[in-house]
Amino acid sequence: MTIHIGADKGDIADVVLMPGDPYRAKWAAETFLTGAKCVNEVRGMLGFTGDWNGNRVTIQGSGMGMPSMSIYANELIRDFDVQTLIRIGSCGGMQDDVKVRDVILAMTACAVATPSSTIFKELNYAPVADFDLLHKAYHAAEGMDVDVHVGSIYSSDTFYDERPDLNKEMQRHGILGVEMEAAELYTLAARYGRRALGVMTVSDHLLTGEALPSDQRERSFGDMIEIALKAAFA
Ligand code: ADE
Repeated sequence: MTIHIGADKGDIADVVLMPGDPYRAKWAAETFLTGAKCVNEVRGMLGFTGDWNGNRVTIQGSGMGMPSMSIYANELIRDFDVQTLIRIGSCGGMQDDVKVRDVILAMTACAVATPSSTIFKELNYAPVADFDLLHKAYHAAEGMDVDVHVGSIYSSDTFYDERPDLNKEMQRHGILGVEMEAAELYTLAARYGRRALGVMTVSDHLLTGEALPSDQRERSFGDMIEIALKAAFA
């Protein structure tokens, strides 16, 4: 047990999928896992462990933003010895060819700052995904009816951001989408020698204003979860 995760050590699998929303963790566990058992309810940040194709997996909510992700990823890595952490979640599209419903595999995640920024002092550290996981996720997606993009994303702790110039520069430099957790997850995985990847469904678009209708969200999020599971156990 840790401060924020009420599970016993053996209750958490080596592979953890991390949606921001705890209710998405519940939906994903009920939809994809067999024998899923709730292993965490502290602060309502639900976590479940079950089996997928004979492989043990935990789906644990991370909350929104890098400070919250930092808490759960630190405890999963340092106290539960988790080896593979895959963020599954939504993001905002930032390029014309990135459409709502598409999936982004984040090769790297830039940020204005993360909870780890201060330890790097003047270094502008570049958080990266685990290449093996990224490679496997890309090949898993190839066999599915989903448009997938691989590249850079932006992790922000400010959802209601009032800096349009920053978005313009990121769009000009090929950033595919914006979300709120991956950069810190990648940084922690690198620090502790673990594998991390962000697999994100584009739920809204910063250029067009389009947003995924709620009746289509489940199907699209399902594709992303299937990609994450296939990558983890390929
Ligand atoms: N997650 C989904 N859409 C987002 C957006 N527009 N900004 C930040 N995070 C997001």
